[in-house]
Amino acid sequence: MNKGIEIARGKTKVLFEAAGQPDMLVVKQTDSISAGDGARRNEIAGKGRLAAQTTARVFRLLNLCGLPTHYLNGGEDDDDNEMLVRRCNMIPLEVVVRGVAAGSLVRRNPGLQRGALLVPRMVEFFLKDDAQHDPLITPDAIIAQNIANPAEISAMTEIARLTFEILAHAWRKRDVLLVDLKIEFGRLAGGENKGQLVVADVIDNDAWRIWPQGREELMLDKQMYRNLEAVDDAGLARVKGAYEQVAEMVGSFPVMRPGMVALFADSPEQTPQLNTVAQALGQLGLPVLRHVASAAKTPGYVLQLLQQHDATFARLLYVALSGTDGALRVMIENSTSNPVMDGSGDPAAIALHCAKVLALEDTVLFGRTLLVQTNTRSAILQADAQINAQQPMGAPANLA
Ligand code: C5P
Repeated sequence: MNKGIEIARGKTKVLFEAAGQPDMLVVKQTDSISAGDGARRNEIAGKGRLAAQTTARVFRLLNLCGLPTHYLNGGEDDDDNEMLVRRCNMIPLEVVVRGVAAGSLVRRNPGLQRGALLVPRMVEFFLKDDAQHDPLITPDAIIAQNIANPAEISAMTEIARLTFEILAHAWRKRDVLLVDLKIEFGRLAGGENKGQLVVADVIDNDAWRIWPQGREELMLDKQMYRNLEAVDDAGLARVKGAYEQVAEMVGSFPVMRPGMVALFADSPEQTPQLNTVAQALGQLGLPVLRHVASAAKTPGYVLQLLQQHDATFARLLYVALSGTDGALRVMIENSTSNPVMDGSGDPAAIALHCAKVLALEDTVLFGRTLLVQTNTRSAILQADAQINAQQPMGAPANLA
């Protein structure tokens, strides 16, 4: 990549200016591995390659889901372990999301059963300060020390939970339990969304705990390195093997599984609703097919289309806009082994339902449905806040 001068160096990465692009940076991951605030430190040849691949694929998945991240491109191929990112002013916090009790949480809470499921997920903030060993910090202290404002703390909490859920879904597809995860945030340093909060830094096999089959003893993450009693070549080779396995599995995280929604309307009068549902599906990135075919008037055509589609696409959903008799939906339901949904009603709700069904096998769609739901919730809360700002609650109707 076309790099400018080096501007910062961390324990496992180096940051460079991007030549001629003031709003961007080049992040290069190195072969270093460290633990205990740098007290233990080693080099594993090839680790930088694996870390860059893992980070790039994790960020590409998050971007595809619609989460705001700093990642632009690079890192996956033979490109010197470098990725291009949007330049950020980093917030000096480590944001940890936990779905299962482990690590420092169990050390701090001896009564808590290791491996216990955490409901709801727990979000913790740690101040990035090696000298003080990255202490836990409360939201109130974050605000008091001017590190972030309350709205940013809420946004970080929400985005961190979404990131965890999306990655947990991806890992679950591979029969691996995501135990916990650390991410970092920055504010975009330039461009049209200057100041926007985005997931930044790197997310690689150092940043999470992952337990295949939910079994801690099968762990594949950096905890293996932390746990080494003596660091020898054999131990480091085992750690490298695990990192290779993880990079390989994460390789398919951003791959969307081809899915298709076939929309059937029973009559020409229903095409406006058919088109609105198609549009809502398009917004979620779902490919659609549209047909007008009547159960009563062109039954042979309906069956012919079903046969054609069922033979062609592995993952297919039908949405039927029947007339008042509901005949088209019944006909499709009884003629295909694929799921069939009713196309009348709120188009956005129908599209979301389709996405949820396909999301069972597709992490990108899973993430998109989570984001749509989160945005809907926050729009309602915002409207409520606005209406109450205009007319304070509890005030007597007429004071005069
Ligand atoms: O040690 P603790 O249980 O607090 O770690 C929670 C999660 O954050 C783990 O997945 C760990 O790998 C990650 N972490 C990290 N960098 C740190 C501290 C923790 O990536 N400096």
